[in-house]
Amino acid sequence: MKSNGKKKTKQVALADIPRVGPGTPAGEWLRRYWLAVAAVDEVKDIPKAIKVLGEELVLFRDLEGRLGLVGEHCPHRGTSLEYGDVEERGIRCPYHGWLFDVSGQCLEQPAEPKDSVFCRKVKHLSYAVREQGGLIFAYLGPDQAEPPPLPRYSCLAERGGQRQIEPVRHNDYNWFNFFENSADPCHICILHRHTGYGEQSWGDQFFSYTEMPDFDFVETDYGMKVVMTKPGPAAGTEFVDTMTLALPSIIQVGDTEFVHVKVDAAKLMTEGSQCEHVLFLTPNDDEHFTIFTVNYYTGSDPRFFDKLKEMRAAEVPKEEVKPYDRRKYMPFKGNVRQEDIMSQSTQGTLGARAERLATSDKGVILFRRIIREAISAAGKGERPKGVVSKGREQGIVYYDSFTGVRKV
Ligand code: FES
Ligand SMILES: [Fe+2]
Repeated sequence: MKSNGKKKTKQVALADIPRVGPGTPAGEWLRRYWLAVAAVDEVKDIPKAIKVLGEELVLFRDLEGRLGLVGEHCPHRGTSLEYGDVEERGIRCPYHGWLFDVSGQCLEQPAEPKDSVFCRKVKHLSYAVREQGGLIFAYLGPDQAEPPPLPRYSCLAERGGQRQIEPVRHNDYNWFNFFENSADPCHICILHRHTGYGEQSWGDQFFSYTEMPDFDFVETDYGMKVVMTKPGPAAGTEFVDTMTLALPSIIQVGDTEFVHVKVDAAKLMTEGSQCEHVLFLTPNDDEHFTIFTVNYYTGSDPRFFDKLKEMRAAEVPKEEVKPYDRRKYMPFKGNVRQEDIMSQSTQGTLGARAERLATSDKGVILFRRIIREAISAAGKGERPKGVVSKGREQGIVYYDSFTGVRKV
């Protein structure tokens, strides 16, 4: 079956991966999944314009509480529904008052003759949309009447712990630079050494410029796992730091509790982390993407999220910016998110940039193969990795990103 896999990969070029518009191979692949499109508290009593996979859309909640996601531009003569009025039965275009329900069906056309039935024939673009645990997901693919199940992600669907949705982040470069960066853990030891990762008990183990951990990359049935290991504190043990990349665009980071909250690591080392830190990425188009970040904490510290917020706020770039320094991303050293933005946004887009891959790019190479196979599977009408099949929707999707000490 291996030769099959190779054949599949050949059909999708590297340059296809970052292109997300309708009709592109990766665009069609991404349209097989539910994608996070907003945090619940971003959708209030006015419409919200969003761009997803190159499509201009408007998200709203009608006064009966139903969520709707419709084409931004009114099918009559194109005015933006972002300025529409939200009503009990849907959204009304401000220009000539056409009213659309959440399914896109036109219900009223006030300027048409009283006996006109034209509105029944007007069905505006609309997509399936659902809520889960503080996020709103949309499905832009085929079978809108019967979309695949929305996976029940543990960080969003579980009860009993504390959940936090971080402020939504918007970036202006290609989404795949961010995604595949997680398949490249050695950058943490180098780019992020300025963040102070290496100045604490856990960081000393994993984020050393000179003594890097061992990296292992494991293909899984939902994507890939990155496993970093170092010799543990006692014979027969090892330190483990894991990160998960789940298709189509989800990252679970295992070490947030160790690295950012910097709790006393002694207990964590035996029990493992109790914080699921999960990023849902959504490409807006080929040059923009949005990050929805969820923290789900099952530990006993009632101030855990406050501490996380305080520690992140304290991670400010410390480098001096010279008065003649006009570089766009200065200063960046000292804040992990700014360090990532500087390096990823200056790379250019995959397929359009020149590259000299090295041994340390092993994870990136494997991950690109996994993605190309998934794109290829979607192109053949097969179910790509990460799409939950019907009948299995009740199960909770866990991405175990174990981080702690374990026996070898
Ligand atoms: S443009 Fe929307 S009703 Fe005319
Ligand atoms: Fe990074």
